[in-house]
Amino acid sequence: AVLCPPSVVSQTCKEGDKCSEGGGGKLLIKGGIVVNEDVEMISDILIDNGHIQLIATEIAADSETRVVDARGKYVMPGGIDPHTHLEMPFMGEVACDTFATGHQAALAGGTTMHIDFALPVDGSLVKGWEEWRKKAAKANMDYGFHMAVTAWNDKVAEEMEYLAKNKGVNSYKFFMAYKGALMVTDEQLVEGFRHCKKIGALAQVHAENGDAVAAGQKYIAEELQILGPEGHALSRPAILEVEATERAINLAAWVNTPLYVVHVMSKGAMEAVARARQAGYRIIGEPTAAGLTLDESKMWDPDFKTAAAHVMSPPIRKHDVDGIALQNALKNRVLSLVATDHAVFNSTQKAKGKHDFRVLPNGVNGLEERIPVLWTTMVNTGKITPMDFVRITSTEAARIFNVYPQKGVIREGSDADLYVLDPTVEYTISPQTHHSALDTNVFEGIKCRGKVVTTISRGDIVWDNNQLFTKDGRGQYIETKPFSPYLFGGLEQEEALKRAEMNAPVKRNLDKIYA
Ligand code: URP
Ligand code: ZN
Ligand code: ZN
Ligand code: ZN
Repeated sequence: AVLCPPSVVSQTCKEGDKCSEGGGGKLLIKGGIVVNEDVEMISDILIDNGHIQLIATEIAADSETRVVDARGKYVMPGGIDPHTHLEMPFMGEVACDTFATGHQAALAGGTTMHIDFALPVDGSLVKGWEEWRKKAAKANMDYGFHMAVTAWNDKVAEEMEYLAKNKGVNSYKFFMAYKGALMVTDEQLVEGFRHCKKIGALAQVHAENGDAVAAGQKYIAEELQILGPEGHALSRPAILEVEATERAINLAAWVNTPLYVVHVMSKGAMEAVARARQAGYRIIGEPTAAGLTLDESKMWDPDFKTAAAHVMSPPIRKHDVDGIALQNALKNRVLSLVATDHAVFNSTQKAKGKHDFRVLPNGVNGLEERIPVLWTTMVNTGKITPMDFVRITSTEAARIFNVYPQKGVIREGSDADLYVLDPTVEYTISPQTHHSALDTNVFEGIKCRGKVVTTISRGDIVWDNNQLFTKDGRGQYIETKPFSPYLFGGLEQEEALKRAEMNAPVKRNLDKIYA
């Protein structure tokens, strides 16, 4: 028997077609409230061959076309999560969501593309890229890569240029923390920033003062003898995030290259981003779903499993101070887009740090929860509109990473990546029902109103009525091209003006002085 996605209200499924795998034929999404970042209106959307073919008020379905009834529901561009770590080796463990389980979780939550952080292998960025492509052979949805730069030498510089030009990697992340592992020095940071500018790549930073964090950890663990997960929060307070954020911004401004600050977790770091944007610098600030909605008190939970699940870096801060400030900054476009930093370690993996927070693998979940949790906290409260919501969960990422308008918009010719959200459905987040391989969930217990009921990836119904219709390997690698006009536009003219100023000759009559 052919199993059709339940929302398909009219179809011509035959034995052996691809409907049960989510694919097959033309698809018509009827009568939904179609939302883009600049407009929302009731429209029909005709999808064929993985692309959006036609958007109009009334499209008739022929006998070959499967129809999905979206009346009373929102139809939005598939979410793009710009910051994840699937299968990442980190702190002696490997993150337990793969490109299969992580993608299934993402699709169940309306996200149809993500950009994962590949790490160098044996000091080689190219080997790292190849390794991550192998991991992604199981991809269930489209994905791109950033690359981490964890050292500086000629080979690193050459490989960055090679990957940017030939392999579609247009963003490079520098860790200012994780001393002795991923951390780089200021000198390396400056070299890296200069090179990013030259090759048209976006520099990204994990902004925490790694030297001070190392000293703070020693003090909290050895002098104060605090070894539980709360020690994690105490050892890396917001002030160390603020210091590094300001330093990175100042160095990027000096080099005059765009900078993207990942996981802005504190009010102070957000304010540094605000000042920089006000000063006209090309600075992007990215808060995370956890940072916007959760509270640091969870790290003081008497249950170790719960406390450990909430350990990430920089730490989740005070919700009433930092979380609310981050939400407001997002509303006012000081912060640009929302990621998850999905880096998940299960309870057994986290238990590695049961006697010492310093060896507790850092990271939280969010791939499946980002869209419903943000809808619930930001749209249902009237803080932002559905159009803003589309911008911060999809469009802005597509523009920044230069995949717009292939992604990030419901437009004729764009990839048919979208989802249907029913604003009336209520449900409670739980690790028992989520799709990640993780056995905990930092959003557990949050009551969402607004559920992703159908997700379409490249024209295939991959999630419908609480069921996945996907298979490993169907996702495609998306090359992100350098010199994104959204970030680099005008930079050359700016530079030419600066250089002209610097080169303006100063007339001095030296003969007279030394004669
Ligand atoms: O705790 C975190 N954030 N883990 C993932 C690695 C990183 O710093 O982004
Ligand atoms: Zn069917
Ligand atoms: Zn980080
Ligand atoms: Zn991260």
